[in-house]
Amino acid sequence: MEVIIQPNNDAAAALVARIVAHDLRSKPQLVLGLATGKTMECVYHQLAQMHRTERLDFSQCRSFNLDEYVGLRPDDANSYRHYMDQHLFNQVNIKPSNTHLPDGMAQDLDAECRNYEALIQKFGGVDLQLLGIGRTGHIGFNEPLSALRSRTRVKALTPTTIQQNAPYFGGEAKVPRRAITMGVGTIIEARRCILLATGESKADIVAQAVEGPITSMVTASALQLHPRCTVVVDEAAAAKLREKEYYRWIFASEPEWEDYR
Ligand code: F6R
Repeated sequence: MEVIIQPNNDAAAALVARIVAHDLRSKPQLVLGLATGKTMECVYHQLAQMHRTERLDFSQCRSFNLDEYVGLRPDDANSYRHYMDQHLFNQVNIKPSNTHLPDGMAQDLDAECRNYEALIQKFGGVDLQLLGIGRTGHIGFNEPLSALRSRTRVKALTPTTIQQNAPYFGGEAKVPRRAITMGVGTIIEARRCILLATGESKADIVAQAVEGPITSMVTASALQLHPRCTVVVDEAAAAKLREKEYYRWIFASEPEWEDYR
């Protein structure tokens, strides 16, 4: 795992967008794993801008989102399909048929989860997986106690996550109680993972995920097992990390990051 600390939210999101752009230019058929949520909005905004101003080309790439709420139609304003259309897919030249999210309205949810896993495999697995982190330490909707080898399945959301997402729904009562999510095992099979966390509300959980023990109580900690995972944080989200100076030194010294400094 590597940790990159950027001065603020915009700089952190810009760095993540540049990594995506770099990987997409190196491999136009990139299979992108995507996340939703407030943190990612800025990344998608930057990617849309790069598409307009630098002709960043999404025409051959394919995407798989981490999760979708159970019981929301794709055109529901709170569905993750709607979020993705609004923030990224309608802003760039990705083919709609190349974008995939689990179907939260499927009659047979278990079959939907199995099919989603099979589809990821069919297209060769995820090359680059973008991740946020929830206040419970979740990646995707892998809430505390999710098995670290779990696959795509239906998960109950915790009260903390329901509270976190309530503002979008106009109250906790309206937040769906369940979601389909890629499993922790599914996520860490991606060839590269980038976790972005910004803001002081993430400082505690980032420190636990990065410097704490690997535990199913904080599923983001499973990323410590990943051979190529980069955690990008702003100063506020980095506040509780003990080894900040070491991370800064690595970022300043490693040739891989020369173009990003
Ligand atoms: C969403 C997802 C979640 C979010 C996390 C952070 O697809 O997988 O894990 O990334 O809840 O959400 P924000 O960015 O809204 O704090």
